[in-house]
Amino acid sequence: MLIFFRGAGHDAGRSIGRDRSPQRETGGKAQEDQPALGGPATDVMLRVPRHRFVPNGYFVQVPGAMPTAYRPVLPWDDEQAWLAGCYTDQALVTQVANTVVPREVRGEIVREPTSSVSEPGLVAFVLDQADLAPGLRVLEIGAGAGWNAALLSELVGEDHVFTIEVDASIAAQARTNLYSTEHYPTVVVGDGRKGHPDGAPYDRLLATCGVAGIYPEWLDQMKPGGIILAGLRGRMLSAGLARLTVCDDGTAQGRFVSGGNYMPARQEVPPRHLMLPDVDSGTERLSDVGASALADHAALVLADSVAPALQWTRVSVSGGPSTDAYIDQDSGSFVVVSDCADGTAVIREGGPDLMWSRVERVISAWREAGCPSVEAFGVRASRDGHTIVLPKQSGIPSAGRGGGR
Ligand SMILES: C[S@@+](CC[C@H](N)C(=O)[O-])C[C@H]1O[C@@H](n2cnc3c(N)ncnc32)[C@H](O)[C@@H]1O
Repeated sequence: MLIFFRGAGHDAGRSIGRDRSPQRETGGKAQEDQPALGGPATDVMLRVPRHRFVPNGYFVQVPGAMPTAYRPVLPWDDEQAWLAGCYTDQALVTQVANTVVPREVRGEIVREPTSSVSEPGLVAFVLDQADLAPGLRVLEIGAGAGWNAALLSELVGEDHVFTIEVDASIAAQARTNLYSTEHYPTVVVGDGRKGHPDGAPYDRLLATCGVAGIYPEWLDQMKPGGIILAGLRGRMLSAGLARLTVCDDGTAQGRFVSGGNYMPARQEVPPRHLMLPDVDSGTERLSDVGASALADHAALVLADSVAPALQWTRVSVSGGPSTDAYIDQDSGSFVVVSDCADGTAVIREGGPDLMWSRVERVISAWREAGCPSVEAFGVRASRDGHTIVLPKQSGIPSAGRGGGR
């Protein structure tokens, strides 16, 4: 079997919603960070045939479709095309809209991916970062089709692999795929954000769905010295893969290792339809941080950290052209941002919590520090949530967030 992987970087989840940062559109820095093919993870990929994990086909993006649309690729329609697609560096989307699988679709469908076989480049990167060895106990969050659980079984031994999937039908298919390739890890159905105490304590935890934080249950179920790899996502659509080592006191610390990420945990998908606040009720002022400032991925990560309740959207005020807006659905606080040609912006904000000033402070300190990339940011997690720790010399205040829930 010829294995042919091109490019590297992200999971299918990146196509959801806004993805305007050039870095995330192209793979950018995350792509540079990918290991050269040929490490332990890619060796094991040669032993586990990826096509055996999509026997019922997968979805591919329809080129140029706006909004993003998918079409099914089914082995019984065109076996050669189906097989070739399995050996590109693309996520193979196996479910959209929480229920719809490829064989149910004729033509195209405009819905968000909810399960996939992740991109080989991202999978290899995460497995190499996990520093795996036979006998280590691993908990994977998000079994999907089971491909990564098979790779983990090869690397540490199937008795040591536990994978948890929130969707019972996907978990059942993962078991079928794993058994048909003679891998027998433990596949459980549940909310992976709570971990799986029955298999604890773990040496490694790999979250293959994006999460808002590092959950207390994960910290409780890890051995000291264990490694957590998790893609942290924010409501402004920032994303970053964090690698943390668990300390003796049950906290964990580490850093971002790339801007790559997975599709969000099902419980954390931002609502599609927001109740728009009465933006006329707000007050207007000038700011030197507009929406374009957040096109830099590192800036977006910081903004998301200091204002985690704000969800990005686009609104049209008084019938004018649509513009960026950030809304806290729970409190009704909002910020509407209209960028000006000179790099400043007009901010209209309202509600009980005026959060943009926090965004302005962190972005201005980050600019003064020379705009360090996300890989320069540390991450600390405790049972109370996680904190982004900025380079000491930068003078940027730590960007705390209540994550974890
Ligand atoms: C990117 S796919 C997983 C890829 C997979 N690990 C592989 O081998 O390619 C993400 C999976 O996470 C699952 N998921 C989402 N939220 C979850 C949660 N809270 N707990 C467990 N699984 C979850 C989704 O149903 C989906 O199957």
